[in-house]
Amino acid sequence: MRKPYFAGNWKMHKTIGEARELAQTLVTELDGNTNKLMIAPPFTALSAVSEVVSGTNIKLGAQNMAPEESGAHTGEISVLMLRDIGVSVVILGHSERRHVYGESDELINRKVKLALEHSLEVILCVGETLEERDAGRVNDVVAGQLKSGLNGVDERHLVSVTIAYEPVWAIGTGRTATPEDADAVQAMIRERMANAYSDSAAEALCIQYGGSVKPENVVGLMERPNIDGALVGGASLMSESFVPIARAGA
Ligand code: 13P
Repeated sequence: MRKPYFAGNWKMHKTIGEARELAQTLVTELDGNTNKLMIAPPFTALSAVSEVVSGTNIKLGAQNMAPEESGAHTGEISVLMLRDIGVSVVILGHSERRHVYGESDELINRKVKLALEHSLEVILCVGETLEERDAGRVNDVVAGQLKSGLNGVDERHLVSVTIAYEPVWAIGTGRTATPEDADAVQAMIRERMANAYSDSAAEALCIQYGGSVKPENVVGLMERPNIDGALVGGASLMSESFVPIARAGA
């Protein structure tokens, strides 16, 4: 039985004060919750939120990291810095990184391997655009991102990997994939993982859905066999919406 995993991706929102306040509310309201929980504030608020969530059932996540440990990389944040601040999870390959900031599968793969080498857990995001869906290329695109993203990743590291299926057309649009559609893609992901690794690794793999997840639709999504949790954007910015999501399936 896979443990439900709910993660909040705060994207480029919240000042330090706002982030601390939201994290504190979540810690209080989700105390005792047995699901796996994570919040990923912007880099500038990581330190403050780290103090709030330290020793609680909420893990601290980062939204990105550099593909190198250190060096002349203006504007980048290293895995060592993330570890130093108390981060234990990093979101990689988010569609906004891929499509707005031009991150390639090869770059994302370097980040994935570096994070795992440094014992960070990874949420690897995959998902098709509307054009790719309309062209009937969903499985090709998603399987390709999965294969490239995990290129060279050993099976023993898979316990630290979560896959987030986030169809690009469902992010921030209010348009959710139907539970059936999302589950079909996520079943395909699990099948590819069984072929690439083993049945047991695929069976144990946590696959989140992301894209306009709300308290109103999370239960229907979680009822599907291959949806093990959610990576939540907009609805993770307020405790009123994130708390009921984080309680789903518990
Ligand atoms: P929304 O929940 O705002 O659609 O964002 C999803 C997402 O991109 C999470 O990483």
